[in-house]
Amino acid sequence: MKFFVDTADINDIKDLAATGLLDGVTTNPSLVAKSGAPNFIELIKQICGLVEGPVSAEVGATEYEQMLEEGLFLSKLAKNIAVKVPLTPAGLKVCKHLSEQGTMVNVTLCFSAAQAILAAKAGATFVSPFVGRLDDIGENGMQLISDICQIYSQYPEFKTEVLVASVRSPQHVVQAGLMGAHVCTIPPNVIRQLFAHPLTDKGLAQFVTDWAKSGQVILPAKAA
Ligand code: E4P
Repeated sequence: MKFFVDTADINDIKDLAATGLLDGVTTNPSLVAKSGAPNFIELIKQICGLVEGPVSAEVGATEYEQMLEEGLFLSKLAKNIAVKVPLTPAGLKVCKHLSEQGTMVNVTLCFSAAQAILAAKAGATFVSPFVGRLDDIGENGMQLISDICQIYSQYPEFKTEVLVASVRSPQHVVQAGLMGAHVCTIPPNVIRQLFAHPLTDKGLAQFVTDWAKSGQVILPAKAA
């Protein structure tokens, strides 16, 4: 299961990349605006240098011609760019064009299994169903992930990976794993929550205390 971090904050990306557990990054226009970065293109190039895996950079246009032009431009910024396009007729047309020329494409704003089928047929590398936003309106985001995983598994010609997006909690990540989703894109605070358990902290504190009591050392003392 791959982990992407869902942020455009350079410091968070650097910090989490240092764990060695990060497989990629997703950004979107809202995250870019929130980061305060003055130059989107420079920001994306910098992020692409921090991780080896896919970095999703989203187009701003909504009409086909301009979206394609932007997608082609973004695709040339780095080898690990995944052009992010919205799940609209124009977005899927751009997806098909870019996929056919070997560019990774992340189809975003997916809210139904029908839309996910279209993304796979358009050759998307990733489809991003937004689970948290579905939960927010009283629907069941994780049920959508389960449905898409089941549908894709029946069609070996579908190469699209299910990228669980709009993740709000560690439970979303665990459920995504149980369902066999390929990727989760996770906000930095939720990635940090994944590490935490009170019994880990309690157990470690006890081990540290008992180790000190034992008077033992593992490494030989260094010469001054
Ligand atoms: C996906 O790539 C999006 O960036 C993201 O997951 C949106 O999540 P939100 O609903 O928390 O804005």
